[in-house]
Amino acid sequence: MASPSSPSCKHRMLLLALLVLAAVASSTIAAAYLYDDLKVTWGSGCSYFYMDGGDVDTLALCLDRSSGSGFSSNGSYLYARYDMDIKLVANDSAGTVATFYLMPDDVPWEYHDEVDMEFLGNATGEPYTLHTNVYVNGAGGREQQFQLWFDPTEDFHTYSIEWNPKYIIFLVDDTPIRAYKNDRARGVPFPTWQSMRAEGSLWDAEEWATQGGRVKTDWAQAPFYAYYRNFRVTPCVPSPGVAWCGDEPPESAWFDQRLDAAKLVRVQAENMIYDYCVDQKRFNDTGFPVECTTA
Ligand SMILES: *[C@@H]1O[C@H](CO)[C@@H](O)[C@H](O)[C@H]1NC(C)=O
Ligand SMILES: *[C@@H]1O[C@H](CO)[C@@H](O)[C@H](O)[C@H]1NC(C)=O
Ligand SMILES: *[C@@H]1O[C@H](CO)[C@@H](O)[C@H](O)[C@H]1NC(C)=O
Ligand SMILES: *[C@@H]1O[C@H](CO)[C@@H](O)[C@H](O)[C@H]1NC(C)=O
Repeated sequence: MASPSSPSCKHRMLLLALLVLAAVASSTIAAAYLYDDLKVTWGSGCSYFYMDGGDVDTLALCLDRSSGSGFSSNGSYLYARYDMDIKLVANDSAGTVATFYLMPDDVPWEYHDEVDMEFLGNATGEPYTLHTNVYVNGAGGREQQFQLWFDPTEDFHTYSIEWNPKYIIFLVDDTPIRAYKNDRARGVPFPTWQSMRAEGSLWDAEEWATQGGRVKTDWAQAPFYAYYRNFRVTPCVPSPGVAWCGDEPPESAWFDQRLDAAKLVRVQAENMIYDYCVDQKRFNDTGFPVECTTA
């Protein structure tokens, strides 16, 4: 094996660094009209697109007695960062759940991947819960929950899912709150082969969503609205000579550099309210999932 200082190795490292840098140069996709990027795919006829800054840039998703509603993004990508600005149901949102998640097009359940951000409503004045989960090949059960450090009903905030070959990173206003690592060497499941769309919905989950189902939806407040705007997709673009992002050299430090691990620990210490990885009672009999254990 060549010593680390041999010219050929140095050359190789330089080449690698250039390739890795090239992977950064991907551009963000966002249409001027939100309805070119998103389609309302199901539910209530009271959802609508409207103008809120010059372009038709905002979608109001509606939930009433008859139905919730949902949308799906036009584009579907294998590895991308998806950003959405959301303003949640105000005042008494108990029983309601607004979502922003990634999912492939129809596949049998055993191949179903999904990356979830779900905003569980609450009684007036009580905090929302941001529920996150990752499904791979039909199996989820990887819940982490957070409370937000602001009132998410007062204004729009940016919620993002970055899915790259090394991590799934959940971000709130650009601050990572969760990172799910691709640790396939240790047998941790990770979505790696099928493209996913961004989807969103507003629906009624009064049986379980708010304070364990104790607080129900107050239909006198209906219709409920959650607002979505400024949808952006930044697909992962492979380096020159690399067939696709999943083939980036494993030495690539690029994806790691975007995650400040110390900051993540701090943010979680302050805002996480549930972590399946420390739920002793739940995994008492079976042992913790492999991603919850250290190598
Ligand atoms: C919608 O998807 C098609 C096919 O993937 C793509 O060519 C087109 O650019 C997309 N439009 C927008 C606005 O993203
Ligand atoms: C929430 O409550 C405030 C204060 O009572 C009111 O002004 C506002 O219209 C309410 N918002 C919604 C969406 O009902
Ligand atoms: C609602 O508020 C209660 C009381 O503050 C809190 O325990 C709970 O986590 C909040 N979120 C949900 C979804 O119930
Ligand atoms: C784990 O299970 C054992 C036997 O089933 C029980 O005695 C123990 O209390 C349980 N521990 C926890 C933390 O639930």
